Amino acid sequence: MEAVTPSGRLYVPSLPTLWPGMLVSKPKPGALPPFSSPNVRYFYFARNAVWLTVKMLGLDKGEVLMPAYHHGVEVEALVDAGATPRFYRVGSRWDVDLEDVARRIGPKTKALYLTHYAGFPGPAEAMRKLADQHGLVLIEDCALSLLSSDGAVPLGTTGDVGIFCLYKTLPVPNGGALVVNGARSYSLPEPPSPPSASTFSHTVSALLQNLELRGGLVGRTLRGLVRTVGHGTVKAASIERVATGTQHFDRKHVDLGMSPLTRRIALAQDLESIVEKRRRNYFYLLGRLRDVVPPLFNQLPPGACPLFYPMVVQEKAEVLARLRAKGIDAIDFWKRFHPACDAAAFPEVAQLRRSIVEIPCHQDLSPEVMADVALVVRDAVRAERRTKKRAG
Ligand SMILES: Cc1ncc(COP(=O)(O)O)c(C=O)c1O
Repeated sequence: MEAVTPSGRLYVPSLPTLWPGMLVSKPKPGALPPFSSPNVRYFYFARNAVWLTVKMLGLDKGEVLMPAYHHGVEVEALVDAGATPRFYRVGSRWDVDLEDVARRIGPKTKALYLTHYAGFPGPAEAMRKLADQHGLVLIEDCALSLLSSDGAVPLGTTGDVGIFCLYKTLPVPNGGALVVNGARSYSLPEPPSPPSASTFSHTVSALLQNLELRGGLVGRTLRGLVRTVGHGTVKAASIERVATGTQHFDRKHVDLGMSPLTRRIALAQDLESIVEKRRRNYFYLLGRLRDVVPPLFNQLPPGACPLFYPMVVQEKAEVLARLRAKGIDAIDFWKRFHPACDAAAFPEVAQLRRSIVEIPCHQDLSPEVMADVALVVRDAVRAERRTKKRAG
C-alpha cells in the first residue's frame, strides 16, 4: 500500500478506512467485549450508553466522580441524564490519583467513573475495590479503548458497566455499546436503527478514503467530487446525516441505535490482527520518535490496543498545521475542560490539554507508511523547536 497520492503527497487519515471486501466478508467470532458479552446493547454513539447508564442504575440526582481529564461529551451526557459530576485528579502520565478519588467520596456519591485513555488501561481493579468498599457503582469508559486488555483482562469487564465506541477503532459508520457485567440482568430496550441515508453517507465516505489511501488518482478525484456534490445533495434533500465524532451531546439522538451495516462490518473484522497491527505501528513510532520527543509512555502494556500515539508538543497549533500540510490527519487531543470542572484545580490536566497531539497508528497503515509518518513527524517537531528558539 502506498498512501502516497500521485501528487507525491502522503495521505494518512486519522481513522481506519473501509475496504470494499469488508462489506461481503463472512462474520468472524468476536472474542472480545462488547462482541463477546452476553448482556450488551448497541447504540449509535457511546454517549447514548452513558446517558442510559445513569437512568438504568438510578444515578440521576446523585453524584458521579469523574476524571478531570475527560472529553466533555461523556460529562454532558451524564449531566443531561440528571447526575452531577464531581472531578478527581489525573496526573501528567494519565495516571488516576486513587487517593484523591477516595478523598472525594462523600454521602452523595453514587458512582465512580473510570476512563481508559487511548487503549492504555486505567486502574480498574483498584477502582473496583474502592467502589465495593463504599457500595458504589463502577462505570468503565472504554470509548477510546475498544479491543484493549490489561494483560489477560479485557477492558470493560471489571466495572458494573463497560461503555464502548466502535467507530473510533473500526471502519464502521456509527456504533457504541453498553455492556452490563455481573449477575443482574437489565432488560434494555432495543433502540431503533438510524436513518439509512446517514449510514450510507458515512459508509461511502469511508470507502472513498480507502481508495485515496491506496494511492489511486481515481479515489482522490472521486472523493473530491463526491464531497462537493454530496454536501449539496444532503442539503437539498434535507437528508439527516447524524455526524459522528462530534463534541456535544444532543438529546435528539439519545435513542438512536446502531445500523445493521455496522454490525456486519464489525463482525467481519479480524480483531486480533487489528490489535497486532496497532501495537506494531505504535512500537515503531516509539522507536523512531523517542530521541526527538520524550515519549509519554516508554512502553505499551501487554494487551493494550493503542488508539493513537500520544505525542507531547509545546506548540500544538504549529505542529498540527505542519503535519496536516504534509497529509497526516493528526488530531488535537482534548483541548477543553467541561465547564463544570474547575481547570485551575487541575494544572497537570491543563498542561496535558495544551500538549497532546494524536499521531495515527491504526491498522490501515503499513510499515512503509509508518516510516514516512515518522519522518514527517520528526521534521515537524524540529521545525517547532527552531520557531521556538527564534522567538525566545
Ligand atoms: C472518554 C469518552 N467517552 C465517551 C465518548 C463518546 O463517544 P461517542 O462519540 O461514541 O459518543 C468519547 C468521545 O470521544 C470519549 O472520548
